[in-house]
Amino acid sequence: MQKVSTAVIAAENISAWYGSNRAVIDISLGVNPGEVLALIGPSGCGKSTFLRCLNRMHEEIDHTRSEGRVLYKGEDIYSDDVDPVAVRSCIGMVFQKANPFPTMSVAENVAAGLRLRGGFSRSEIESRVEGALRKAALWEEVKNKLRAPGTSLSGGQQQRLCIARALAVQPEILLMDEPTSALDPISTGRIEELMTELKKSVTIIIVTHNMQQAARISDQTAFFLMGKLVEHGNTEQIFNSPTREETENYISGRFG
Ligand SMILES: Nc1ncnc2c1ncn2[C@@H]1O[C@H](COP(=O)(O)OP(=O)(O)O)[C@@H](O)[C@H]1O
Ligand SMILES: [Mg+2]
Repeated sequence: MQKVSTAVIAAENISAWYGSNRAVIDISLGVNPGEVLALIGPSGCGKSTFLRCLNRMHEEIDHTRSEGRVLYKGEDIYSDDVDPVAVRSCIGMVFQKANPFPTMSVAENVAAGLRLRGGFSRSEIESRVEGALRKAALWEEVKNKLRAPGTSLSGGQQQRLCIARALAVQPEILLMDEPTSALDPISTGRIEELMTELKKSVTIIIVTHNMQQAARISDQTAFFLMGKLVEHGNTEQIFNSPTREETENYISGRFG
C-alpha cells in the first residue's frame, strides 16, 4: 500500500451500499500523480461502484450510501463544505458506452461542462474546445465538422469526444469505466495510445476486463473480488508474480 501523502487521490476505508447490499467493502487504495491505475476483477465485484465513489457519482443513484473518506490532494471530497459538482470537474469520468449529448454538436458536447460552470468568454470556450479535442486526438478528424451532431461520429470517435468533453474542464484525474469494451481493436488501440499521452498531464484510473490492456497501459493494478480489494501493486508484479492465489486464478483465466 502506498503512502496516502504521495497519492493524488486516495480512498480510505470506502464501503458502498445499494439498499442493504454492500457492493464495496472497506477499500483503501491510492494512486500517485501521473500514474495509470487499472482496476480488474470479475463482473459484479464492485469496480464501477468503487470508481463512482471516487467522484461522488455513487450518491446520485437512489437508495445508496457510502462510508469512508476519499482524499483528493489531501482533502476529503466527502466533507460537508465540498460541492460535488466541483469535485466532478477535478475528477472527470468516461463511461463504457460513449454517451455524447444527443441534441448537441461536436463542439457543443465538448463545451458542455464549461457552459455548466459558466464564466468563460466565447473565445475561451472555442480555444478550450480545440485544446480538448487535440488532447483527445480527435481534432484533425472533426475540425471541419464541429457543427455536426456528436452522435454522427463513429463509435471510436464518439468515445474520444466523451474524453474531450471530460478534458475540457481540465480535470486532474480521469476515471474511465471500461472505455474501450464497446470498440473495435483499431479504436481501442487509438484510445490506449491516447492514454499513454494523457498520463503526462492527468492521473488515470481505468476499469478494464482486458488483461492485455491492463498490462500494456497501467503502472499499478488492483484486483477486486466480491467487493473487496484482494491485491494491489505494480502491474508487472501483479501479472508476473501475484501474491494471492485468487489473483493468480483470475489473471490466468481460471475464473471470472
Ligand atoms: N444501480 C445499481 N443498483 C443496484 N445494485 C447495483 C447497481 N449497480 C451495481 N449494483 C450491484 O453492486 C454490485 C457491484 O456492481 P458493479 O460495481 O457494477 O461491479 P463491476 O463494475 O465490478 O461489474 C453488484 O452486485 C451489482 O448488482
Ligand atoms: Mg462495471
